[in-house]
Amino acid sequence: MAKHRRRDRKFRLALTAAIAAAAFLPVAAVAMPSSGARPNIVGGTEASIGSYPYAVYLTDKNGNQFCGGVLVSSTAVATAAHCAKAVQRSDLRVVAGRQDKRTNDGKVVPVREVWVPDSFSDPGKGDDVAVLKLAQSLPYRPVNLPADDSPYAEGTQATVLGWGRTADGGARSDYLRKADVPVVSDAGCGASYSNYDSRSMVCAGYPQGQVDACQGDSGGPLVVGDTLIGLVSWGDGCARPGKPGVYTRVLTYAGEIRSEAESSRLVFW
Ligand code: ARG
Repeated sequence: MAKHRRRDRKFRLALTAAIAAAAFLPVAAVAMPSSGARPNIVGGTEASIGSYPYAVYLTDKNGNQFCGGVLVSSTAVATAAHCAKAVQRSDLRVVAGRQDKRTNDGKVVPVREVWVPDSFSDPGKGDDVAVLKLAQSLPYRPVNLPADDSPYAEGTQATVLGWGRTADGGARSDYLRKADVPVVSDAGCGASYSNYDSRSMVCAGYPQGQVDACQGDSGGPLVVGDTLIGLVSWGDGCARPGKPGVYTRVLTYAGEIRSEAESSRLVFW
C-alpha cells in the first residue's frame, strides 16, 4: 500500500496534501472594527470570521446576501434547500472569508452543482438541506459533522451564525453575528410547532425568546464547538416567546452531506 508507483496516484496524493496544507494556512488577519453596541442576528453579538472560518453567505444575481451556508469541505457548502432553490444556480455565489459584507475580503466562488434531496418541498415539511459543490477550492477550515446525537441533548448551548435580520421585521446585518441558544427537546419543540418532525429538524432557543436566527440567516450554521448540528431553516417570526428557531437536523443527513461533499472533490482529479 505504501509502495504505490503509479504516477496518477502520486499526483493525487500530492494534490490532496497541497489542498490539505492550504486549508490550514493562516488566513491573513483582517482588521476588525471594534464591536461597540451595535444591534444583534437577534439578541447576539458581532462574531469574527477568524473564529468561524467555515461561515459563508450566499448572494443572488445582484450580489445581495440572501442566505447563509457552511463549508463542509474545501469544495462544498451545506445550506438550506429553500436557499439553494431560491436562486438560479448560474446566479448563485458563495462568499467565504468575509466578515463584513461591505468589504472585498475573502473569496467569491460560483457553484458547479447543487444537491437537494428529492423529498424536499417546503421547510415546514423537513429535509431542508442542500450541498453546493464549488467551482474552486477554498482555503478556509471546514466545520465538523456530528458523529452521534450527543450534541443534541436538551439544554446543550449551541451557537448560531449569520448575516440576517437583527430584529423581527428589521434590517439585515452588514457583519457576521452570533448568538448562543440552548437545544430544545423534541417534546418541547413539538409543543411549540404541530409540524415539528424530530427526524429532520431540531429546535434551539429560550422559553422567553429574545435570542434567535432570523430572515437572511437561513442555511447558516448552528454549531456546538466546531461541530455542525443544525442549519437555520424556519420559525414563527423571530425570537418570539414559545417559538424557538427550527433547524435542519444535520446528523440525519451527515452521510449524504459527506458523500455529496466527496463527489464535489472528484472533478478536480
Ligand atoms: N426562513 C428564514 C430565512 O430564509 C429563516 C428563519 C429562521 N427563523 C427563526 N425564527 N429562527 O432566512
